[in-house]
Amino acid sequence: MAGLGTLKRVAGEIRRDVRAAQERDPAARGVGRLEVLAIWPGVHAILAHRVAHALVVAHVPLVPRLIAGFSRAVTGIEIHPAACIGSSFFIDHGMGVVIGETAKIGNDVTLYQGVTLGGTGFATGKRHPTVEDNVTIGSGAKLLGPITIGHGSKIGANTVVIHDVPPNSTVVGNPGHPVRIDGRRPEGPDADWVHLPDPVADAIKGLASRIGALERALAERGGENGAGDDAPDDTPPLRPARGPNPAGG
Ligand SMILES: CC(C)(COP(=O)(O)OP(=O)(O)OC[C@H]1O[C@@H](n2cnc3c(N)ncnc32)[C@H](O)[C@@H]1OP(=O)(O)O)[C@@H](O)C(=O)NCCC(=O)NCCS
Repeated sequence: MAGLGTLKRVAGEIRRDVRAAQERDPAARGVGRLEVLAIWPGVHAILAHRVAHALVVAHVPLVPRLIAGFSRAVTGIEIHPAACIGSSFFIDHGMGVVIGETAKIGNDVTLYQGVTLGGTGFATGKRHPTVEDNVTIGSGAKLLGPITIGHGSKIGANTVVIHDVPPNSTVVGNPGHPVRIDGRRPEGPDADWVHLPDPVADAIKGLASRIGALERALAERGGENGAGDDAPDDTPPLRPARGPNPAGG
């Protein structure tokens, strides 16, 4: 019977999600399965999503959205019921997580609070990220558009990712850029994001050395003309301002 099969599948998914919380949340080590199931908001959110998504697949109207809305109100985690999420999924803390309608998430993925898997505008069709297996996404990270996050990658806290991420990389910053690929720093002319050229500082340094050269040249000329340091200073002296202090006080 199809209904019983779906129920069995959803029950298995929930069991794996609870185990994922026990394994990946240091605060859940040694905590019983029932306690995790009763207390962890990330587990409640994925549990509700599993049921809502199964109803979407079964073409049940309205109810999936009601479940998703209720789950959002209780947990602060918003998962569109149509989003596809693999097994052993874990959201730590959870508040502020948003997962869009066309997002696809592989197995063994971990999200922290404040993560957005969103679109970039009003486009329709596939417009949310695809996250492959074994990816960790740090708190506050925003992944925008139909990009792919390669398997085994880590997205640093507060990173903004708008391009595909190669597998097994660490991506940080805004815009997100790989700082490790397969455990090594990426090489190449655009790879050093720490020591970027600063054209404004370079221009100021150039002007300062030019002024220094001019001052030396002027001092030498003054020496030749017998003026030098004894030349009369025609800079008007500073006079104390009259009237009320414009700064008040
Ligand atoms: C990115 C992260 C997963 C570490 O991954 P990693 O592969 O072990 O990377 P490393 O720690 O070796 O750091 C690689 C580089 O990125 C930098 N970096 C790490 N995290 C960063 C972040 N969030 N933002 C900016 N730079 C970051 C490191 O300083 C290091 O810089 P370097 O190349 O100059 O040495 C981790 O730093 C992170 O952000 N985890 C999220 C955890 C989280 O959200 N916790 C919330 C708990 S409530």
